[in-house]
Amino acid sequence: MAVYDTVRKVTTHVLYEMKVRGEKIAMLTAYDYTFAKILDRAGVDIILVGDSASNVMAGHLTTLPITLDQMIYHAASVVRGVQRALVIVDLPFGTYQGNSLEALQSSIRIMKETGAGGVKLEGGSEVRESVMRILSAGIPVMGHLGLTPQSIHKFGTYTVRAREKAEAEKLINDALLLEELGCFAIVLEKIPATLAAEVASKVRIPIIGIGAGQKVDGQVLVLHDMLGLTTEFSPRFLRRYHNLYDEITGAVKAYISDVRSLDFPNEKEQY
Ligand code: KIV
Repeated sequence: MAVYDTVRKVTTHVLYEMKVRGEKIAMLTAYDYTFAKILDRAGVDIILVGDSASNVMAGHLTTLPITLDQMIYHAASVVRGVQRALVIVDLPFGTYQGNSLEALQSSIRIMKETGAGGVKLEGGSEVRESVMRILSAGIPVMGHLGLTPQSIHKFGTYTVRAREKAEAEKLINDALLLEELGCFAIVLEKIPATLAAEVASKVRIPIIGIGAGQKVDGQVLVLHDMLGLTTEFSPRFLRRYHNLYDEITGAVKAYISDVRSLDFPNEKEQY
């Protein structure tokens, strides 16, 4: 029997059950087949094809430049490596804010051309029509509130959001709205832990935090940051589980040295 016949795939319903049982949800980003396969076999529940690909894969300063075609390329590669995890794809900037029909068409392209299990978009009441229209086509939607990187030019800074009462109240109302509309989960990014805990206790759908403390239903990190492939980005919430930047540098330097010294290839490594 093939492995995929024995694996219970993670669905939005499985995530809901995990929240009910108090079982924490582990989510990471991935942008390619090889990493997606490693994450999936390691047991990650959700793989997010984040528009952070714009930063870590393409080297842009913000998430704004990445296109729908580029996101679809990354997402299709990820889906080919995954058997169990739920794959969610970010709707990139400019593909859903304009009007709800554009949001629906962008989401349909993602679902048809990648085989992913749903889409994520940023914002609350501002994107209400888009969320409703995507959901009406049967496409699962994950919300994203708090620090929403596609609005970085409006915020002007990547600092903690919703410290002020008015912004905190709007965030709670947006979370309740997204739940009411039918979103299956919400990412809360870089907000006070007490506020995130309050939201998680007020909604029945899973809340996934990044820089939102422990009292939420799951956590997400950008893969390249938690593996230590990136070095320049060190917010307080980021735990680095490895220092791959230095390890890869060491391996590449050893290779260069071996090539130059004629140590590589040796007799066993030739035909
Ligand atoms: O694009 C991304 O990687 C994200 C995560 C930070 C949640 O949206």
